[in-house]
Amino acid sequence: MSLAATGTLVADAAAGRRAVAAFNVITLEHVEAVVEGAEAAGSPVILQISENAVKFHHGRPAPLARAAAEVARLATVPVALHLDHVHSTALLHQAADCGFSSVMFDAAHLPYQENLAATRAAADWAHRAGLWLEAELGEVGGKDGAAPLDAHAPGARTDPAEARAFVEATGVDALAVAVGSSHAMTSRTARLDHGLLARLHDALDVPLVLHGSSGVPDGELGRAVAGGITKVNIGTALNTAMTAAVRAHLADDPRTVDPRSYLAPARTAISRTVSELITVLAGAPEAAPAP
Ligand code: G3H
Ligand code: ZN
Repeated sequence: MSLAATGTLVADAAAGRRAVAAFNVITLEHVEAVVEGAEAAGSPVILQISENAVKFHHGRPAPLARAAAEVARLATVPVALHLDHVHSTALLHQAADCGFSSVMFDAAHLPYQENLAATRAAADWAHRAGLWLEAELGEVGGKDGAAPLDAHAPGARTDPAEARAFVEATGVDALAVAVGSSHAMTSRTARLDHGLLARLHDALDVPLVLHGSSGVPDGELGRAVAGGITKVNIGTALNTAMTAAVRAHLADDPRTVDPRSYLAPARTAISRTVSELITVLAGAPEAAPAP
Protein backbone atom coordinates (compact mmCIF):
# COMPACT_ATOMS: atom_id res chain seq x y z
CA MET A 1 0.00 0.00 0.00
CA SER A 2 1.32 3.47 -0.79
CA LEU A 3 2.05 6.04 1.88
CA ALA A 4 -1.20 7.76 2.89
CA ALA A 5 -1.63 11.50 3.49
CA THR A 6 -2.43 12.71 6.99
CA GLY A 7 -5.02 15.17 5.63
CA THR A 8 -6.89 12.33 3.94
CA LEU A 9 -6.88 10.10 7.05
CA VAL A 10 -8.09 12.96 9.24
CA ALA A 11 -10.77 14.01 6.73
CA ASP A 12 -12.00 10.40 6.47
CA ALA A 13 -12.14 10.14 10.26
CA ALA A 14 -14.05 13.43 10.51
CA ALA A 15 -16.55 12.28 7.87
CA GLY A 16 -17.13 9.08 9.84
CA ARG A 17 -17.31 10.94 13.19
CA ARG A 18 -14.28 8.91 14.28
CA ALA A 19 -10.72 9.74 15.29
CA VAL A 20 -7.48 8.57 13.76
CA ALA A 21 -4.73 7.55 16.18
CA ALA A 22 -1.34 9.22 15.76
CA PHE A 23 1.52 7.50 17.58
CA ASN A 24 4.92 9.01 18.33
CA VAL A 25 7.82 6.82 17.24
CA ILE A 26 11.45 7.08 18.28
CA THR A 27 13.10 3.92 16.93
CA LEU A 28 12.53 1.56 14.03
CA GLU A 29 11.03 -0.92 16.52
CA HIS A 30 8.39 1.68 17.42
CA VAL A 31 7.59 2.11 13.74
CA GLU A 32 7.26 -1.62 13.12
CA ALA A 33 5.17 -2.10 16.24
CA VAL A 34 2.76 0.75 15.48
CA VAL A 35 2.16 -0.55 11.99
CA GLU A 36 1.72 -4.13 13.25
CA GLY A 37 -0.73 -2.93 15.90
CA ALA A 38 -2.72 -0.94 13.33
CA GLU A 39 -2.78 -3.91 10.99
CA ALA A 40 -4.05 -6.15 13.81
CA ALA A 41 -6.81 -3.61 14.49
CA GLY A 42 -7.50 -3.17 10.75
CA SER A 43 -7.28 0.63 11.02
CA PRO A 44 -5.37 3.46 9.37
CA VAL A 45 -2.72 5.07 11.51
CA ILE A 46 -0.41 8.09 11.63
CA LEU A 47 3.27 7.69 12.52
CA GLN A 48 4.63 10.84 14.18
CA ILE A 49 8.26 11.83 14.59
CA SER A 50 8.70 14.76 16.95
CA GLU A 51 11.39 17.42 16.84
CA ASN A 52 12.68 15.90 20.09
CA ALA A 53 12.97 12.48 18.41
CA VAL A 54 14.85 14.13 15.55
CA LYS A 55 17.23 15.69 18.11
CA PHE A 56 17.83 12.18 19.54
CA HIS A 57 18.83 11.09 16.04
CA HIS A 58 21.54 13.78 15.93
CA GLY A 59 19.23 16.35 14.34
CA ARG A 60 18.68 14.30 11.18
CA PRO A 61 15.03 13.50 10.35
CA ALA A 62 15.66 11.61 7.13
CA PRO A 63 17.01 8.20 8.28
CA LEU A 64 14.08 7.31 10.59
CA ALA A 65 11.50 9.06 8.40
CA ARG A 66 12.59 7.26 5.24
CA ALA A 67 12.63 3.91 7.08
CA ALA A 68 9.15 4.67 8.42
CA ALA A 69 7.94 5.56 4.93
CA GLU A 70 9.22 2.21 3.68
CA VAL A 71 7.47 0.31 6.51
CA ALA A 72 4.31 2.29 5.65
CA ARG A 73 4.53 1.30 1.99
CA LEU A 74 4.65 -2.38 2.99
CA ALA A 75 1.66 -2.07 5.36
CA THR A 76 -1.75 -3.57 4.70
CA VAL A 77 -3.51 -0.51 6.19
CA PRO A 78 -3.12 3.18 5.23
CA VAL A 79 -0.22 4.78 7.11
CA ALA A 80 0.72 8.47 7.04
CA LEU A 81 3.86 10.23 8.27
CA HIS A 82 3.61 13.39 10.41
CA LEU A 83 6.37 15.64 11.79
CA ASP A 84 5.31 16.57 15.33
CA HIS A 85 5.88 19.55 17.69
CA VAL A 86 8.16 21.47 15.37
CA HIS A 87 9.68 24.71 16.67
CA SER A 88 12.51 24.94 14.19
CA THR A 89 11.77 26.52 10.81
CA ALA A 90 14.85 24.76 9.42
CA LEU A 91 13.32 21.40 10.38
CA LEU A 92 9.91 22.40 8.99
CA HIS A 93 11.58 23.09 5.67
CA GLN A 94 12.97 19.53 5.51
CA ALA A 95 9.57 17.88 5.98
CA ALA A 96 8.48 17.29 2.40
CA ASP A 97 11.86 15.84 1.37
CA CYS A 98 11.66 13.21 4.12
CA GLY A 99 8.23 11.82 3.18
CA PHE A 100 6.07 13.68 5.71
CA SER A 101 2.67 14.79 4.40
CA SER A 102 1.98 16.93 7.46
CA VAL A 103 3.55 18.94 10.24
CA MET A 104 2.46 20.17 13.67
CA PHE A 105 4.04 23.59 14.09
CA ASP A 106 4.19 24.38 17.79
CA ALA A 107 4.39 28.04 18.75
CA ALA A 108 1.90 27.66 21.61
CA HIS A 109 4.48 28.83 24.17
CA LEU A 110 4.54 32.29 22.53
CA PRO A 111 2.16 35.16 23.34
CA TYR A 112 -0.97 35.06 21.16
CA GLN A 113 0.11 37.57 18.48
CA GLU A 114 3.55 35.96 18.13
CA ASN A 115 2.04 32.47 17.94
CA LEU A 116 -0.35 33.74 15.28
CA ALA A 117 2.37 35.37 13.17
CA ALA A 118 4.77 32.40 13.39
CA THR A 119 1.97 29.92 12.67
CA ARG A 120 0.66 31.92 9.71
CA ALA A 121 4.16 31.97 8.18
CA ALA A 122 4.54 28.21 8.81
CA ALA A 123 1.12 27.45 7.30
CA ASP A 124 1.82 29.59 4.23
CA TRP A 125 5.11 27.79 3.68
CA ALA A 126 3.59 24.34 4.34
CA HIS A 127 0.73 24.89 1.92
CA ARG A 128 3.10 26.03 -0.82
CA ALA A 129 5.03 22.78 -0.21
CA GLY A 130 1.83 20.67 -0.32
CA LEU A 131 1.84 19.88 3.40
CA TRP A 132 -1.10 19.78 5.86
CA LEU A 133 -0.40 21.92 8.91
CA GLU A 134 -1.59 21.52 12.52
CA ALA A 135 -0.98 24.23 15.14
CA GLU A 136 -1.72 24.67 18.85
CA LEU A 137 -3.52 27.38 20.77
CA GLY A 138 -3.76 27.37 24.53
CA GLU A 139 -0.96 25.27 25.87
CA VAL A 140 -1.12 21.53 26.49
CA GLY A 141 1.32 21.22 29.39
CA GLY A 142 3.97 18.68 30.26
CA LYS A 143 6.23 19.29 27.26
CA ASP A 144 9.97 18.61 27.59
CA GLY A 145 9.66 17.33 31.13
CA ALA A 146 7.77 20.42 32.38
CA ALA A 147 5.20 19.88 35.10
CA PRO A 148 1.58 19.77 33.87
CA LEU A 149 0.00 23.23 33.75
CA ASP A 150 -2.39 24.00 36.56
CA ALA A 151 -5.96 23.67 35.23
CA HIS A 152 -6.64 27.32 36.05
CA ALA A 153 -3.33 28.76 34.81
CA PRO A 154 -3.63 31.41 32.08
CA GLY A 155 -3.24 29.67 28.73
CA ALA A 156 -3.97 26.22 30.13
CA ARG A 157 -7.22 26.14 28.16
CA THR A 158 -8.06 27.10 24.57
CA ASP A 159 -10.53 29.97 24.32
CA PRO A 160 -13.18 29.25 21.60
CA ALA A 161 -13.49 32.82 20.28
CA GLU A 162 -9.73 33.28 20.20
CA ALA A 163 -9.36 29.89 18.49
CA ARG A 164 -11.83 30.87 15.79
CA ALA A 165 -9.94 34.09 15.07
CA PHE A 166 -6.61 32.20 15.15
CA VAL A 167 -7.74 29.56 12.64
CA GLU A 168 -9.16 32.20 10.29
CA ALA A 169 -6.03 34.34 10.46
CA THR A 170 -3.51 31.50 10.07
CA GLY A 171 -5.28 29.16 7.64
CA VAL A 172 -4.19 26.06 9.57
CA ASP A 173 -5.70 22.69 8.65
CA ALA A 174 -6.20 21.41 12.22
CA LEU A 175 -5.93 22.74 15.74
CA ALA A 176 -4.50 21.10 18.87
CA VAL A 177 -6.67 22.25 21.76
CA ALA A 178 -5.94 22.44 25.48
CA VAL A 179 -8.93 20.84 27.19
CA GLY A 180 -7.35 19.21 30.23
CA SER A 181 -4.82 16.67 28.93
CA SER A 182 -1.11 17.01 29.58
CA HIS A 183 1.93 15.44 27.95
CA ALA A 184 4.01 12.57 29.36
CA MET A 185 1.55 11.33 31.97
CA THR A 186 2.29 7.79 33.14
CA SER A 187 -1.04 7.38 34.92
CA ARG A 188 -4.37 7.61 33.08
CA THR A 189 -5.98 10.10 35.42
CA ALA A 190 -6.62 13.17 33.21
CA ARG A 191 -10.13 14.60 33.26
CA LEU A 192 -11.13 16.54 30.16
CA ASP A 193 -13.27 19.66 29.99
CA HIS A 194 -16.01 18.25 27.74
CA GLY A 195 -18.07 21.46 27.93
CA LEU A 196 -15.15 23.44 26.54
CA LEU A 197 -14.55 20.81 23.86
CA ALA A 198 -18.19 21.15 22.77
CA ARG A 199 -17.81 24.95 22.51
CA LEU A 200 -14.60 24.56 20.51
CA HIS A 201 -16.26 22.05 18.20
CA ASP A 202 -19.13 24.48 17.62
CA ALA A 203 -16.80 27.42 17.04
CA LEU A 204 -14.32 25.79 14.64
CA ASP A 205 -14.55 24.22 11.19
CA VAL A 206 -11.14 22.50 11.33
CA PRO A 207 -10.44 19.07 12.89
CA LEU A 208 -9.52 19.17 16.58
CA VAL A 209 -6.48 17.30 17.90
CA LEU A 210 -6.00 15.89 21.40
CA HIS A 211 -2.38 15.89 22.62
CA GLY A 212 -1.07 14.15 25.71
CA SER A 213 -3.54 11.32 25.28
CA SER A 214 -1.50 8.72 27.20
CA GLY A 215 -2.87 10.15 30.44
CA VAL A 216 -6.50 10.06 29.31
CA PRO A 217 -8.54 7.02 30.42
CA ASP A 218 -10.56 4.99 27.89
CA GLY A 219 -13.92 6.48 28.85
CA GLU A 220 -12.61 10.03 28.58
CA LEU A 221 -11.06 9.24 25.18
CA GLY A 222 -14.42 7.90 24.03
CA ARG A 223 -16.22 11.05 25.14
CA ALA A 224 -13.57 13.24 23.52
CA VAL A 225 -13.99 11.50 20.15
CA ALA A 226 -17.78 11.67 20.44
CA GLY A 227 -17.33 15.37 21.27
CA GLY A 228 -15.37 16.17 18.12
CA ILE A 229 -11.73 15.17 18.59
CA THR A 230 -10.54 13.78 15.24
CA LYS A 231 -6.82 13.09 15.77
CA VAL A 232 -5.55 11.54 19.00
CA ASN A 233 -1.82 11.85 19.72
CA ILE A 234 -0.25 9.13 21.85
CA GLY A 235 3.41 8.66 22.77
CA THR A 236 4.21 7.96 26.40
CA ALA A 237 1.91 4.92 26.61
CA LEU A 238 4.06 3.19 24.01
CA ASN A 239 7.26 3.94 25.91
CA THR A 240 5.73 2.77 29.17
CA ALA A 241 4.87 -0.57 27.55
CA MET A 242 8.21 -0.83 25.79
CA THR A 243 10.33 -0.07 28.83
CA ALA A 244 8.36 -2.41 31.08
CA ALA A 245 8.97 -5.25 28.62
CA VAL A 246 12.70 -4.48 28.40
CA ARG A 247 12.96 -4.21 32.19
CA ALA A 248 11.13 -7.52 32.69
CA HIS A 249 13.33 -9.30 30.19
CA LEU A 250 16.56 -7.97 31.68
CA ALA A 251 15.41 -8.85 35.20
CA ASP A 252 14.60 -12.40 34.06
CA ASP A 253 17.84 -12.83 32.15
CA PRO A 254 20.50 -10.40 33.43
CA ARG A 255 23.18 -12.07 31.31
CA THR A 256 21.46 -11.36 27.99
CA VAL A 257 23.59 -9.58 25.40
CA ASP A 258 21.71 -9.69 22.10
CA PRO A 259 19.43 -6.63 21.92
CA ARG A 260 16.93 -8.61 19.86
CA SER A 261 16.17 -10.69 22.95
CA TYR A 262 14.59 -7.65 24.68
CA LEU A 263 13.62 -5.55 21.65
CA ALA A 264 11.36 -8.32 20.33
CA PRO A 265 9.13 -8.43 23.46
CA ALA A 266 9.35 -4.63 23.64
CA ARG A 267 8.03 -4.37 20.09
CA THR A 268 5.22 -6.82 20.88
CA ALA A 269 4.28 -4.79 23.96
CA ILE A 270 4.05 -1.60 21.89
CA SER A 271 2.04 -3.33 19.20
CA ARG A 272 -0.51 -4.63 21.75
CA THR A 273 -0.86 -1.16 23.25
CA VAL A 274 -1.45 0.30 19.80
CA SER A 275 -4.17 -2.26 18.97
CA GLU A 276 -5.90 -1.72 22.30
CA LEU A 277 -5.92 2.06 21.96
CA ILE A 278 -7.14 1.96 18.35
CA THR A 279 -9.94 -0.36 19.48
CA VAL A 280 -10.91 2.13 22.20
CA LEU A 281 -11.04 4.95 19.65
CA ALA A 282 -12.97 2.85 17.13
CA GLY A 283 -15.64 2.08 19.68
CA ALA A 284 -15.73 5.63 20.93
CA PRO A 285 -19.08 7.01 19.68
CA GLU A 286 -21.05 4.03 20.98
CA ALA A 287 -19.02 3.90 24.18
CA ALA A 288 -19.52 7.56 24.92
CA PRO A 289 -21.85 8.21 27.82
CA ALA A 290 -24.60 10.78 27.33
CA PRO A 291 -23.41 14.34 28.08
O1 G3H B 1 2.29 15.03 20.24
C1 G3H B 1 2.39 13.99 20.91
C2 G3H B 1 1.48 13.68 21.98
O2 G3H B 1 0.81 14.78 22.42
C3 G3H B 1 1.82 12.57 22.88
O3 G3H B 1 1.58 12.84 24.25
O4 G3H B 1 3.23 11.26 25.19
O5 G3H B 1 1.52 12.30 26.62
O6 G3H B 1 0.85 10.58 24.95
P1 G3H B 1 1.80 11.67 25.32
ZN1 ZN C 1 1.81 16.65 21.80
